[in-house]
Amino acid sequence: MSNPLHGKHILLAMSGGIAGYKIAELTRLLVKAGASVQVMMSEAAQQFITPVTMQALSGREVVLTQWDARQPNHMPHINLSREADAMLVAPASADMMAALAQGRADELIALTALARRIEECPLLVVPAMNREMWAHPATQRNVAQLKADGATVLGPAAGDQACGEIGDGRMLEAQQIFDQLLLFLAPKPLRGRALLVTAGPTFEPIDPVRGITNHSSGKMGFAIAQAAAEAGAAVTLVAGPVSLPTPPGVRRIDVQTAQQMFDAVLPLAGQQDAFIATAAVADWRPAQVHKHKLKKAEGAVTAPTIAMAENPDILAAVARLPQPPFCVGFAAESEKLAEHAEAKRRRKGIPLIVANLGPATFGRDDNALLLIDEQGQRELPRADKLSLARELIRDLSTRL
Ligand code: C5P
Repeated sequence: MSNPLHGKHILLAMSGGIAGYKIAELTRLLVKAGASVQVMMSEAAQQFITPVTMQALSGREVVLTQWDARQPNHMPHINLSREADAMLVAPASADMMAALAQGRADELIALTALARRIEECPLLVVPAMNREMWAHPATQRNVAQLKADGATVLGPAAGDQACGEIGDGRMLEAQQIFDQLLLFLAPKPLRGRALLVTAGPTFEPIDPVRGITNHSSGKMGFAIAQAAAEAGAAVTLVAGPVSLPTPPGVRRIDVQTAQQMFDAVLPLAGQQDAFIATAAVADWRPAQVHKHKLKKAEGAVTAPTIAMAENPDILAAVARLPQPPFCVGFAAESEKLAEHAEAKRRRKGIPLIVANLGPATFGRDDNALLLIDEQGQRELPRADKLSLARELIRDLSTRL
């Protein structure tokens, strides 16, 4: 299962807050990803959303009190924390954070957090409160204490608040909590490693309104950056012009031209453990960039001839460094996939090339890959790009 949340068991503890409605959506996302979710709700949480909703979405009875007689041994705080891979408190109210920081045991959620085995069931806390409550020294003291005790605090975000004020304290969106939890729980074979990824096309201007570019949505490269960050690597993503969100935990540098990509990559490449070049770099650029838009001459039929200059080959330049990182190239071919890709691997002097059929994948969410190295080939059959990226990163982590 390439999705790191598949088969994980999450203890989802809700305290009081209007943001509780987002946890309904989060539960859906977790269940869809193959995780099992055990919800517990404080009394305050039930003022905002009902246990009926949470039971229906999680497919499990919601636990509401430490005196729950359905537990044969009357110890939900022990039973539920022992089976969980993580305990997520969301929304975490100011009151709940105070209780957690103090190690209180007079209601279900704080009691369970106190009773869990710290090493086996990590605690993640997702604050949700008014900005003044968040900024108050008492809350900030509690946050610092929770972190010192090993908890991970996700957010909060800044923005519009239910009370009408604007500021810090807003709970993260369901998808953001999901992404952070996934990042947290994924295996970390690349911890301590640095990875550099190029992605997207480049754009080579002709004049202020026109340019030359390649087909590339950037989706494969962004998925690889995401998978590498999940695996614990410090990831730098050098991206050409694409409209994709930056994956969580990834440092992104935006560029436009091949030369700019080269200038961003080369100074960083020497300090990396691996360099994955997925960008569709334009091989040539207009030799001259016109200051003003080229105009059609009145009545004339002659089209302009554009003189071209060659762009630097970024991947080949990195591979030629005295101590290069482990270099992975991409080859988008339209025929004779393995043959062309292997020739390219040798020409560029790199240990691994990933081949795909260009026209069959441009802009799509799925792809199929062929990994080619000195020893031979390995096929990664058609799947969504993020699953393929995770498989590729797993493969790469065994090579480093
Ligand atoms: O030579 P070709 O463009 O087919 O090679 C593709 C591989 O080389 C990709 O990994 C691409 O990111 C990389 N490349 C590069 N700089 C270039 C051209 C290609 O890094 N100027």
